[in-house]
Amino acid sequence: MPFNPKLCRNESEVESKLIVQYLLPALGYTPDTWHQEVVLGSIRLDFLAFAVQVVPFVLDANSPLSVVMEAKHPKHNLNNHVSRLRHYLTTLNVRYGLLTNGKEIRIYEKFQYEIQLVFQCAAKEVETKIEDIKNLIGRESLQERQNLNNLDIQISETKSSSETKRQNSMKTIAVYHNKGGVGKTTVAVNLAAALSKKGKRVLLIDIDSQANTTFATGLIKFQFDEEDDLRALNVSHLLESGDFNHISEIRRQSHYFNNPEIDVIPSHISLIDKQDMLNKMAVSRPRLISKLKNVENDYDIIVIDTPPSRDYYAQVALIASDYLIIPSDLKPFANQGLPTVKIFVNEINEYRNMIGKPALQIIGVLASKISTNPKFLQYTFPRQRNVISDRYGLPLMEAVIYDRTSLSECMNNFITIGELEYPDPKSIIKYAESKANAQQSAMEFEVLAKEVLEKIGAK
Ligand SMILES: Nc1ncnc2c1ncn2[C@@H]1O[C@H](COP(=O)(O)OP(=O)(O)O)[C@@H](O)[C@H]1O
Ligand SMILES: [Mg+2]
Repeated sequence: MPFNPKLCRNESEVESKLIVQYLLPALGYTPDTWHQEVVLGSIRLDFLAFAVQVVPFVLDANSPLSVVMEAKHPKHNLNNHVSRLRHYLTTLNVRYGLLTNGKEIRIYEKFQYEIQLVFQCAAKEVETKIEDIKNLIGRESLQERQNLNNLDIQISETKSSSETKRQNSMKTIAVYHNKGGVGKTTVAVNLAAALSKKGKRVLLIDIDSQANTTFATGLIKFQFDEEDDLRALNVSHLLESGDFNHISEIRRQSHYFNNPEIDVIPSHISLIDKQDMLNKMAVSRPRLISKLKNVENDYDIIVIDTPPSRDYYAQVALIASDYLIIPSDLKPFANQGLPTVKIFVNEINEYRNMIGKPALQIIGVLASKISTNPKFLQYTFPRQRNVISDRYGLPLMEAVIYDRTSLSECMNNFITIGELEYPDPKSIIKYAESKANAQQSAMEFEVLAKEVLEKIGAK
C-alpha cells in the first residue's frame, strides 16, 4: 500500500498509517513478528519487531529482539527523543531503533552505550528509500546478520525469578573515610583498574562533588565551561528519579585510563548545589540500590569513591554498598576520625535494617600513603598497625599501599597538543606498562585486588 504522509495528523496515525500499514509490511515483518505497546520492566515500547518468528517471546541471551520503532506526534522534534531511544536500545541490547514523527524518519544503531544516526529521510520520500531501509532493518537482512551474531540480552528487570538461573553475584564496595587526603580516590580508581585487569567487569562510581575520580579516569579533558558535558549527566541524576536516568544513560567509558577501560558514573561540582534538594526527598536516599540492581548482570564489582564527610552523598554510597574499605594513612588525625566512621556505619546500618538490607561489612582499614622509609617501617609502622584493632576495634587489611610518587604522577599525567596541555590521567596499572618506576606500586594494587576478591568471596 502506498504511503501518504498527509494522513499522519497525530501520534496514533503515525503508528497506524506509517508503521503498521506501510513500514512493517514493506520491511517483511509479518504480524506474528512484531508487537505493539510492549512493556519491559520500566520501559514501554511502541513497537518491537523480531527477525525470526517467536510467539511468545522470551527475553534471554538468545532473544531475537531486533528493531524498536517509536512513533511521535508530527509536531514533536525528534531530537528530543533520541536520549530515550538510546536508553531503550542500550538497556534492552537492541541493535536498531527507528524514530519517526510522520514527517521525518530516522534509524539509529547501537554501539556499546551510544547510538548513532545511520539513516535519515523525509517521510514523503520513504517509498523511494525503502530499499535502503530494508537493507538496514528489513527482516531478511537482519535474519542473515543475526545468524552470524547472536544477541546478548541482559534484561534483569524482566526476568521472572523462577526462570532465572543467572547468579546474582555483583558486589558493591564503598571506599570511605571521613578524613580527606588519606588516599580514598587513589585507592578507588586503581583498585578498580586492578580488578578490571583481573577480568572483572567493574563500574566505578564517583559520588564526591570534588570529582577527583571523574578527573582521574580521564573524563574531564575539556578546558572550558561550555564544553562541560558532565553537568547534565552525572551521579546526582541517578538519585533524582526512580523511573528515569538509569545507569545505562549516565555511565561513560573511561578515556585512555586503563587497559581495558572501565565504566564510570561521573560526578560534578554541582552536586554541592543539588544536595539540599535531594536530601529533602527521603525516597532518593536508597535509589542507588535499585539503579544498581538493574545492572547486576553487567558488572561483577561496583567501586564507589565517596566524599570525606557524613553528608547525604556519603549516606547514599554506604546505603547502597555491601562492603566498606577505609583507607587511612594511620596518622593521628586519620585515627581520630575512626570512631566517627564507626558511629556513621552504625547509623547507616540502622537505616539499612529499616529497609531490609543486611549490615555493611567492613573489609577493613587499608594502610595507604605509607612511607617507605626503612626505619619507619621497622619501628613505627607495626605499632600503627596494632593500634587499629587494639584501640579502634577495626579489622586491618593485609595489603599496604605505599607512598609512591608514581601514583600521583600517573593521575596528573598530561599530553601537549599544539599550545595546549590536556589532562591524560592513567591508572597505575596502565602507567606501569611503560614506566618501570611504577611497577612496584602497580603490583601493590594487584595484591590489594587479590585480597579484596578473597574477602568478598569473588575469586
Ligand atoms: N599512596 C600514595 N602515594 C603517593 N601519593 C598519594 C598516595 N595516595 C594518595 N596520594 C596523593 O595524595 C593526595 C590525596 O589523595 P586522594 O586519593 O585524592 O585522597 P582522598 O580521596 O582521600 O582525599 C593526592 O594528591 C594523591 O595523588
Ligand atoms: Mg577523594
